[in-house]
Amino acid sequence: MVDKLIIFDTTLRDGEQSPGASMTKEEKIRIARQLERMKVDVIEAGFAASSNGDFDAIHAIASQVKDSVVCSLARANDKDIMRAAAALKPAGQFRIHTFIATSALHMEKKLRMTPGQVYEQAQRAVRFARNFTNDIEFSPEDGSRSDINFLCRVLEIVIAEGATTINIPDTVGYAVPDGYAALIQKIREQVPNSDKAIFSVHCHNDLGMAVANSLAAVKLSGARQIECTVNGLGERAGNTSLEEVVMAVKTRRDYFRLEVGIDTTQIMPTSKLVSQTTGFIVQPNKAVVGANAFAHTSGIHQDGVLKARDTYEIMRAEDVGWSANKIVLGKLSGRNAFKQRLQELGVALNSEAELNSAFGHFKELADQKAEIFDEDILSILSQEAKSAHDHETYRFVSLSQHSETGERPCARVVFIVNNSETIGEAHGNGPVDATLHAIESQVNSGAELILYSVNAITTGTQAQGEVTVRLSKSGRIVNGVGTDLDIVTASAKAYFAALNKLNSNTERLNPQCS
Ligand code: KIV
Ligand code: ZN
Repeated sequence: MVDKLIIFDTTLRDGEQSPGASMTKEEKIRIARQLERMKVDVIEAGFAASSNGDFDAIHAIASQVKDSVVCSLARANDKDIMRAAAALKPAGQFRIHTFIATSALHMEKKLRMTPGQVYEQAQRAVRFARNFTNDIEFSPEDGSRSDINFLCRVLEIVIAEGATTINIPDTVGYAVPDGYAALIQKIREQVPNSDKAIFSVHCHNDLGMAVANSLAAVKLSGARQIECTVNGLGERAGNTSLEEVVMAVKTRRDYFRLEVGIDTTQIMPTSKLVSQTTGFIVQPNKAVVGANAFAHTSGIHQDGVLKARDTYEIMRAEDVGWSANKIVLGKLSGRNAFKQRLQELGVALNSEAELNSAFGHFKELADQKAEIFDEDILSILSQEAKSAHDHETYRFVSLSQHSETGERPCARVVFIVNNSETIGEAHGNGPVDATLHAIESQVNSGAELILYSVNAITTGTQAQGEVTVRLSKSGRIVNGVGTDLDIVTASAKAYFAALNKLNSNTERLNPQCS
């Protein structure tokens, strides 16, 4: 009998806690549906008590997702737990994930509670959650830095109260693989009723060891759930990366001897969707989903791969959903071909109107670009989803700019502000700088630009450019993404997307800051 490894995805909760990664309800629904298509076992859809927006997003996901368990985070108090249960109510199968910090440092400095109070609150929270579901996960926050004896006492009582999954977070990414595995082993040995719960790992990547720590605990101490995010998205250095743990367990089945239910061919589409939605681009040398992950450029490697793929390839690109930049559609492709390709990509649009609008944008792009790839189609759909649902104070109309060697570039941007047309003009150090100054000459946002990056969606000089702009204002950080064949236009679109986010009120409470 081979054990199953449960994949618990927290892209929409812990991933979303990264500065600038916050998503709209529609974006979260789209990602949740893609996670379901990838056959993730549990989707942590958010933290219901953090904001009305997050509550609505979890509620909508719980109504639409049928094949994965939908989960909400809740602090260990009645109010949060009731909010989680209410948001999750429409789901076929749901889980409440409640947590409280157990390390001396967090209890004393953050919670200002005694260990006795924390123990009681954990017990009460799980008992209360049992009124709503039998599927309860409990996390002792900062578990990897908690006193083992106290930790074991808390875990024993929450299991006795009905917690079915015990998750041990390495909240600050401090653990090392054998130490983390040994901690989980000790807990399983020391807690008398540990056999009544599934043990789970939740690692942060501050020292670059999140994946190694998670896999060590799975291999050496019987943890059977990994909490992870797509592309390793998450606060600071991120969380355990879903694609890396899944492909490690699949590729080294001889070593791990575990089953994972993930449809790995959905890994790339999910990775692209998450990066295009959040503006967190994937580094080229990132394992599994980086642009270079399957590129053999050295002569010796190319020669080997041509003779026999397994000389240098341990995984096949197509098994993780790389479409190898196949030309899929062109200028002459009709609406039916477009619709069929969407179906093949697993994209379901909600209405004929959405299909018509996406097809219109596809045609516009096909007029300018001979070869349309899957990545282009996914990017059209991301932009569609944004413009259909974002609160838009600003809308880009057109751009003209001039740059010439030896001259200071200038730009003129036409855009709509609250239904009236506005024109901004400015010079700058380069065409992008001039364009952003032209926008700011009218908007005066007072925001600070803290990141600007350009990425090509596909290969070649015909590729669309994808620009990410990160703005910060009054402690709030947002990302805006824009795509276009012209990277200066993409920059203007990204800048407006970020300004629109700054203007929309989607403030969320961070569960770990309170
Ligand atoms: O890192 C952490 O401790 C968490 C918990 C809330 C599970 O994300
Ligand atoms: Zn976390």
